[in-house]
Amino acid sequence: MTLITVVSAKHAPGATTSALVLAAAADPLTAPIVLEGDPAGGDLAARAGTLFDPGMATLFEHARNGGAAEELGLHAHVLPTGVRLVVGLVDPEKVSRYADDAAAVLAPLLQRAGMLAVVDGGRWGSAAGAAWAARSDLVVVAMRPTVDGAEHVAARLPSLRRIARAVRPLAIGDNPLRPADVADILGCPVSFLPSEPATARAVGEGRIGLDALRVTRLFAAAERVLSEISVTGHGPACTGPGTGPGTGTGTGTDRHPARRQPPALSRRLTA
Ligand SMILES: Nc1ncnc2c1ncn2[C@@H]1O[C@H](COP(=O)(O)OP(=O)(O)OP(=O)(O)O)[C@@H](O)[C@H]1O
Ligand SMILES: [Mg+2]
Repeated sequence: MTLITVVSAKHAPGATTSALVLAAAADPLTAPIVLEGDPAGGDLAARAGTLFDPGMATLFEHARNGGAAEELGLHAHVLPTGVRLVVGLVDPEKVSRYADDAAAVLAPLLQRAGMLAVVDGGRWGSAAGAAWAARSDLVVVAMRPTVDGAEHVAARLPSLRRIARAVRPLAIGDNPLRPADVADILGCPVSFLPSEPATARAVGEGRIGLDALRVTRLFAAAERVLSEISVTGHGPACTGPGTGPGTGTGTGTDRHPARRQPPALSRRLTA
């Protein structure tokens, strides 16, 4: 199993959408599943007009009662991209009952299921997000490519790195800062997804199929991100502003250290 948690620092940069796109771009043999672990989430069911049950609450009870890993899919909705989605919690009573313990209860089940799980951990700072991050192979930090967006991520990197095995900033868009500029500020390689509002909206509302998504720039970039991130050799750690090996690297060029990290996660997951 590979567990990736996507979080954000601030600004709703696209953490939830990115989790869905990354899962859609992964090798289908990894049976990708997205879990909406954001305690302030519940966005996806609302956007897609889906019921909240089954979802995180029913999956939690399933896992706590020793339910079979093979039955995990019964708690998911299948999106038109083929990605399975376990929708989040909105009822405050359910959030307080399940959210903080979800990672501890569900991670062993996901482990047994042996799939690629992408968790939407919401804004960094919640206990639930930290619990997912601590159990993840990689934490992806979605961010807007602005100076303040980068500074917010920089401020949170120390706490993220204390908890997570590997951290990868993910710039959504390249305006005003290119990913290479963000890498300079953060001192580590930065992955990139383009700003593609119509596609992003369709993904978030669960109304785009895999064939239509496949021909978008967003999908191609998500495939690139998956090939850049490596859960065993995750490349230079984020060491802070201006000090990391990613400093000064270009975007989309061979000079970017992230682009020299074989093998691709999407391929290795099937190994
Ligand atoms: N790559 C993208 N290009 C353009 N727009 C995007 C992209 N990703 C997300 N968006 C848009 O940005 C808005 C916020 O996206 P999303 O809900 O995924 O962000 P979030 O970081 O999960 O926010 P929150 O903190 O509220 O959970 C949505 O309107 C979405 O369609
Ligand atoms: Mg979100």
